[in-house]
Amino acid sequence: MIKQLLLAPGPTPVPARVRLAMAQPMFHHRTPQFSALFAEVRDGLRQLFQTEEDVLVLASSGTGAMEAAVVNCFAPGDEVVVVNGGKFGERWIKLATTFGLTPIEIRVEWGRAVRVDQVAEALDAHPRARGVLVQGSETSTTAVHPIEQLAAVTRRRDTLLVVDGITAVGVYDLPMDRWGVDVLITGSQKALMLPPGLGLIALSQRAWARVEKVPQPRYYFDLTRERTNQAKNTTAYTPAISLVIGLHEALTMMREEGLANVFARHARLAAATRAAAAALELRLVAPDNPSPAVTGLYVPDAIDGSKLFAYLRDKMRVVFAGGQDHLKGKIVRIAHLGYMGAFDTITAVAALEMALRHFGHAVELGRGVGAAEAELLSALPG
Ligand SMILES: Cc1ncc(COP(=O)(O)O)c(C=O)c1O
Repeated sequence: MIKQLLLAPGPTPVPARVRLAMAQPMFHHRTPQFSALFAEVRDGLRQLFQTEEDVLVLASSGTGAMEAAVVNCFAPGDEVVVVNGGKFGERWIKLATTFGLTPIEIRVEWGRAVRVDQVAEALDAHPRARGVLVQGSETSTTAVHPIEQLAAVTRRRDTLLVVDGITAVGVYDLPMDRWGVDVLITGSQKALMLPPGLGLIALSQRAWARVEKVPQPRYYFDLTRERTNQAKNTTAYTPAISLVIGLHEALTMMREEGLANVFARHARLAAATRAAAAALELRLVAPDNPSPAVTGLYVPDAIDGSKLFAYLRDKMRVVFAGGQDHLKGKIVRIAHLGYMGAFDTITAVAALEMALRHFGHAVELGRGVGAAEAELLSALPG
């Protein structure tokens, strides 16, 4: 089997250290052994989320943690402002509707960020809105929303700011407590360098105060029950033990690198990819507010992006992501997320150039690679 390079915005590559840690024999979770491990994981997660609060570990994909936020923080009939600027903004709308909330939708053109005044105006028009639901990084459009500025608006009101940080946490600096984010969510298969299967969620003090008042029924995703258990270094139900072991190792790796360096690395790889795009005259999907997790590029009009993506995956063994909905066939998305370094980005750009050439695009081979190299060189350690 020819080596494959995984450069999609999740699942992301899992480092050998993490894979080896997860290969250890299974042990029981109602044991001092698990509790000791879990205590360290909980500490590491607080550092990652930059919060004093508990970060709860759920056995679910990221969407499970999004559902947990909705059913714990809001009651049927509650109005919530939802920023819908892509597939995952749409998911907030669907979750809100499923559980009987009334979403007030702010539609944002794909690839753009919501403007803070749009959210402030929506809250002025709907003063009873209980929450603002948004993505820290809208993976489908490769755009980031202005979380710090949104938090400055929601902090002054009785409105919870709920951030799907699934491709934001561990990617860019998103200090939950300092900014005043009320709910922050991520999933294991992104910056945390793990296989899919863990949903992680932290709530602010005022979000917990809200949870106590919400009558919405919930069972598996009852965060109060989880909080009580996890405070005792155990979980309400059987945890995904192997993933928790892997999480311990991944958090250790991130601590060794230093969180600030992790953020800088993501920013650098994204900047290098954008420099390559400029050199290759490929338009960015999110030119004004690009995510450091993943870069979206429009493919030249004459090329079917779906075919380009499939060729890269099947013939070149380089896995990007394509576009969704109206961007299907029009864009490719190249991830910088998790266990990625400079030479993953160089390879990504080289593969893209070669695939474009294969499809007849007049690309000068090495042009994008050179631009990426120059960008990466400027940040090379001395
Ligand atoms: C921003 C964002 N939100 C939500 C999700 C859904 O997470 P999951 O597929 O783990 O349920 C994803 C996954 O790609 C994502 O990138």
